[in-house]
Amino acid sequence: MGLAPLLSNRKILVCVGSGGVGKTTTAAALALGAARLGRRTLVMTIDPAKRLKDSLGLPALDHEERRVPDEKIAPPGHGEKVAGSLHAMMLDQKRAFDEIADRYLPDAAARERVRKNPIYRQISTKLAGSHEYAAMAKLCAVYDEGRYDLIVLDTPPTTNALDFLDAPEKLVGAIDSPALQWFAKLYFKQSVKVLGIGGAFILKRLARFVGSRFLEDVGQFVSENGAMLDGFRHRAHEVQALLRRPEVGFVLVCTPDPLTVGEALFFHARLRSSQMSLGGFVVNRVHPRGPASPSREELVLLLGARPELRGYEPDDMVQVAADIDRTYRDFQALAAIDAREIARLAEATAGAPHVEVPLFDRDVHDVAGLTAIGRYLLD
Ligand SMILES: Nc1ncnc2c1ncn2[C@@H]1O[C@H](COP(=O)(O)OP(=O)(O)OP(=O)(O)O)[C@@H](O)[C@H]1O
Ligand SMILES: [Mg+2]
Repeated sequence: MGLAPLLSNRKILVCVGSGGVGKTTTAAALALGAARLGRRTLVMTIDPAKRLKDSLGLPALDHEERRVPDEKIAPPGHGEKVAGSLHAMMLDQKRAFDEIADRYLPDAAARERVRKNPIYRQISTKLAGSHEYAAMAKLCAVYDEGRYDLIVLDTPPTTNALDFLDAPEKLVGAIDSPALQWFAKLYFKQSVKVLGIGGAFILKRLARFVGSRFLEDVGQFVSENGAMLDGFRHRAHEVQALLRRPEVGFVLVCTPDPLTVGEALFFHARLRSSQMSLGGFVVNRVHPRGPASPSREELVLLLGARPELRGYEPDDMVQVAADIDRTYRDFQALAAIDAREIARLAEATAGAPHVEVPLFDRDVHDVAGLTAIGRYLLD
């Protein structure tokens, strides 16, 4: 069963999976298919997908939503007509954080100060999960504006796809971390009268250890930006709620490698326990099963009939036939292993839609390649 129904019965598709399995490619191919089917579509990518930008004819792929020219993506044989539209953007993590911060900070001076604060810079760029959080927060913001029928979100290359679901909670945890709050409280109670001699002594020692600048940064950050931190928490809760809505579908991408299949199954279980909806599985880069190989004798005859091989010695021909035969058998052995993994996936997720996309003989980075992938995803 193809994934075509998802393009019309969902408003958000989130492509997740282990590193390198084909998330960005799948997201782009699904978005392209949706635009051709008449939907106003946005694909939000995370990678610096330079070749994708070039092949879509975009001057840049950045934090701005840019419309892909129709003539670049019109289906073959349809001139320059696309029934819907395709926009693309690439998330800029820092800007996504700044956008949330700006909503909650009262004036330009406060915005300026927070951008320079090293604690803010750490939270918005370096903290584990901040990339994922930024992606989901931006998704929420764009979705709320209602300009698209379908948003396809690509997710960052995480070693563990589950990091994605945990990101909002992690961020809130970091903001509310006892250590951050403790530093801030200490900073405000600087007078000996309030702190007592012992507290003042701790603060002095601490300042020597971490630098008084650090304490100042934490103090300023927590004191001035309460509303912004509330904003971060609020967005995290909105994201969690949005991901549970029925119009959101997760597309779990894997390859037939047992490790990535295992991770997809794990993610599937997590989706179920979190009441989030599965859109379907994509098993990408599958070695296709071919017909039985001809015998070596038949191969020699077939090779002998090829004009470009005329003039080869019969012994060379036997050698070439043996090499082809071995390569073909190796390929078929890989195809058999892939088939076993796909059967394991299908059995463990009985009834869940899944599609197989074959391993192409070259990288997929242009519209023709995405169209070819789309056929396997949707038909
Ligand atoms: N079916 C396929 N056949 C051949 N090459 C493919 C196929 N699918 C994807 N690729 C290629 O594999 C590479 C990785 O794909 P892609 O960038 O989509 O993976 P990803 O999951 O987004 O990776 P990351 O986790 O690093 O973001 C790309 O060069 C892409 O062109
Ligand atoms: Mg990617």
